Amino acid sequence: MNLRHLTLHQLRIFHAVARHASFARAAEALHLSPPTLSLQVKQLSETVGQPLFEQIGKKIFLTASGRTLADACHDIEARMERLSADLSALQGVERGSIKLAILTTVKYTVPKLLGRFCAVHPGIEVSMQVGNRELLLQRLAQNLDDLTIMGQPPEQLALVCEPFADNPLVLVAPPDHPLAGQRQIDPQRLQGLPFVLREPGSGTRLTSERFFANQGIAIKPRLELASNEAIKQTVAGGLGLAVLSAHTVVAELALGELVQLDVQGFPLIRRWYVVYPQGKRLSAAALAFKDWLYTHRSPERAGEHSAGAESGDA
Ligand code: PGA
Repeated sequence: MNLRHLTLHQLRIFHAVARHASFARAAEALHLSPPTLSLQVKQLSETVGQPLFEQIGKKIFLTASGRTLADACHDIEARMERLSADLSALQGVERGSIKLAILTTVKYTVPKLLGRFCAVHPGIEVSMQVGNRELLLQRLAQNLDDLTIMGQPPEQLALVCEPFADNPLVLVAPPDHPLAGQRQIDPQRLQGLPFVLREPGSGTRLTSERFFANQGIAIKPRLELASNEAIKQTVAGGLGLAVLSAHTVVAELALGELVQLDVQGFPLIRRWYVVYPQGKRLSAAALAFKDWLYTHRSPERAGEHSAGAESGDA
């Protein structure tokens, strides 16, 4: 027996006849003539080298070989359906588009992952908004993006939220600051010290203000800036201390341009989530990127940074 000559067309016809237990009904379903079906099944039977049907009275029945072949047809058809779904999903990915909105602090990690994803899927169009917590919440409420990467999502919006990575907030100072190098600093020693703050609407600011309020500490706001980059420069220049996402200061800490103060209670534990409105139908491209994010994220995964409870939001 040489199955190389067997065709998918023959298998489809045979399977239809087997399912309908009738050449006439299968011919009707396939919009073909009964003689065409008989010829194809006869040729298939010759290829297999065994009879596939037996006729008893006016009815046809599968032989043992016919049943085995029918089972195989079932598998082959299921596989073809999966193949077709995979190919159309892939086509969706390759020609799709993704609209992302990410936090200012996320721009130090996710764009790199996005770059690598786009190199593998060059046909995808991507737009990415970078903004603070408030801007992302407004965009989410208007359903403007496919995926949003943000801190603690608000409970009042119906959202799907998947924890993505830890976002520890650290207290940074210039290297010559009197508190630099001290261990387990009591937070009360921050009382009255000048701070460079993020703008209102920033999750970083919200979290640090909550920490100071809980500790009963009044810091001295010296300057307010809507940019992590600018804050780093002003802190390095000696204008004050700042609370920033650890992801934003990796290079400055490594180069010694800034130091991390060991204040009790820090780092403040935040988390990033991949978020989208409940009921949203994510495109194949957006789904593929979401998978990519989870597969290629850095070792600092959600919940792995610290056992501490997450600092919540309003
Ligand atoms: P943001 O983000 O300070 O840029 O708003 C930080 C957060 O919400 O965790």
